[in-house]
Order: sequence, then C-alpha cells, then structure tokens
Amino acid sequence: MANKITMENQDWKTIGFGYRKTNYNVRCYYKNGAWGPLELSDSEYINIHMSATALHYGQEAFEGLKAFMGKDGKVRIFRMDENAKRMQYSADGILMERIPLDKFQEAVKLAVEKNMDFVPPYGCGASLYIRPLLIGSGPQIGVKPADEYLFIVFVMPVGPYFPEGFKPTDLLIMRKFDRAAPQGTGKYKVGGNYAASLTAGKKAKAEGYSAVLYLDSREKKYIDECGPANFFGIKNGAYITPESDSILPSITNKSLMKIAEDIGLKVERRRVPVEELETFEEVGACGTAAVISPIKRIYDDDLDKEYTYGTEPGPWTTKLYEKLRAIQDGDAPDPYGWVT
Ligand code: COI
Repeated sequence: MANKITMENQDWKTIGFGYRKTNYNVRCYYKNGAWGPLELSDSEYINIHMSATALHYGQEAFEGLKAFMGKDGKVRIFRMDENAKRMQYSADGILMERIPLDKFQEAVKLAVEKNMDFVPPYGCGASLYIRPLLIGSGPQIGVKPADEYLFIVFVMPVGPYFPEGFKPTDLLIMRKFDRAAPQGTGKYKVGGNYAASLTAGKKAKAEGYSAVLYLDSREKKYIDECGPANFFGIKNGAYITPESDSILPSITNKSLMKIAEDIGLKVERRRVPVEELETFEEVGACGTAAVISPIKRIYDDDLDKEYTYGTEPGPWTTKLYEKLRAIQDGDAPDPYGWVT
C-alpha cells in the first residue's frame, strides 16, 4: 500500500460524524448464482456498470454498527448478528440477494481487524463506525432485480451523530413532508428512505433543529421516527416507543427496551399519538449513530405548538445511556451476549 494513513495526533474529542478514509475495506461479489470469497481492498472506489440497478432503481441497502475500544485494550463490536439479520430483511424487501449471516460477520470482523489503528481510544466519546453496504451491481434497464451484487464493509472513526452528543437537542414536526409510505420501504434500511428525507432535513437544520420528527404518512396522527434515529418517550415508569410499519427496526432501540425492562421500566411498543408528546417526562432519539440524543424541545410547525422537556438529560435517559455505553465499552458485564 502506497500511503498508509495513521491517526497520530488526532484530537478524538472533536472528530465529529463524517466519512474518513481508512486503510482497508472488505468486498464480496455475487455472480453466477453464488457468493465468492471475501476480498481485502485498499481502494476507496468501486468499478460499477453504468446500468447497475443500485444506480437507477435504488436497489441498495446498508447497515450501521460500531466497535468500541475498552479500558482493557479489547475491541468490542456491538450486536453484529442483529445487523446481519437486518441486512437480510432489507435485501428481501427490495429483492436483493441475501448476504449469508456468517459472511456478513466475517467481513465485519476482518474490516475491524485490518483497521485496528482507527479504533478511537477508550473514554474519548468516539468509536469505530462500521458501514456494510449491499448493492445491485448487475445491469438492467427494465425495472427488475439485478443478477449480480456487491457487498462491501468499510469503517471509519466517528464522534456523535448529533454534534451535541449526549446533550439535549431540538426536533421539528412538519406535516408536509413524508419519509416513507405506510406500506412502502420505511422498515428497510435502504437508501431511498434517506434520499426522501434530505429536503425536510435540510429545512429543519436551516431552522436550527437537529432533525425532523416524522408523523405517520397515512393519517399524520402518530409519531413515526426521526429518520436517522427512532423515537422514545418516558412517563409514569414506562419506556414508550412507536409501533409502525414504516419505521426502521432500530437495534439500539431494541437494546434500550431490554435495558429499560431490567432497570424497572415498563416497556410499551404501540402507536404514539402526537398529542401524547405533552405528557412525556423525558424524550429521546436513539440509533447506532446517535446512540441516545435526549430531546429538550419539539416544535410543531403546522400547529405552532411546542413541547419542552428538560435542558439536561433526564434521569431515566441518563441511566439507559450509561448502561448501554458501559456494555459497549466493556465497563459492565454483558448479560445479554451483545458484544463480540
Ligand atoms: C445509523 O445509526 O447507523 C444510521 O444508519 C443512521 C444514519 C447515519 C444514516
């Protein structure tokens, strides 16, 4: 390799959430009805047919997971078996070839091992973000699935997704934007959902909000999710998170539901009417990239109404965050078998 990158003199505390080149990525090709071996690459580029289905018809899915450096010097990858399953679920949703679960996990481990120098040190608030990507690479011009696929895993060190980190931030409700159709692809981790959220996201950010809080697209009565993160609210000793056909099944949210139960919260997964925002004691957004972002204010642009919460993270949110992060970092036992 010509110019090997190093992370010497990196200020990890200010690293932010963004793309960064590392030294290696892992690739695997599906051709003639079979997945080939894992291949290691030092290029950031892929060679792709101009008529690939990923480019024309959005036949692509991705994942996001993280690895953390522990105090003991061990690197722990969080719940990669769940990401492997979710990528198969997304592949099924848009008729792509499934990447086998063991191949997914082998590729993730290899990508981390080969880029060990990029895992941020213990306690700095940053982590190694792992981005698996599955794309229809074979040519089609009619709207149909590709015959060939490319699976890639690349990694990069990142800081928190919302720059505030574990500090309360603001969300905006706007009924004139939908993220996903009620019976569409919102529950799959496919690029089209994120493309659909760009205009609304830009508007929210321009107005000083971290993200949009989407309502269900059919009735605009219930809370869906934030786009890059799921939503939860806490009241009367219950962790409440929306049940919906158009939100991504977040692995962080699933983990928080388990931890919530274990710290004595009741867990309710159900439709959450927008008026219920009035009654929550604490609210937050959660996801791999965001971890937990506590929310201090939600503004409903259509009704000119605001919901406010504490300017500091609430006690339950703090407890959930600390428990989750302690398992990820290896500071607490992992009773659920979540880390590799
Ligand atoms: C994640 O949490 O991993 C995401 O995929 C969110 C966003 C960066 C797209």
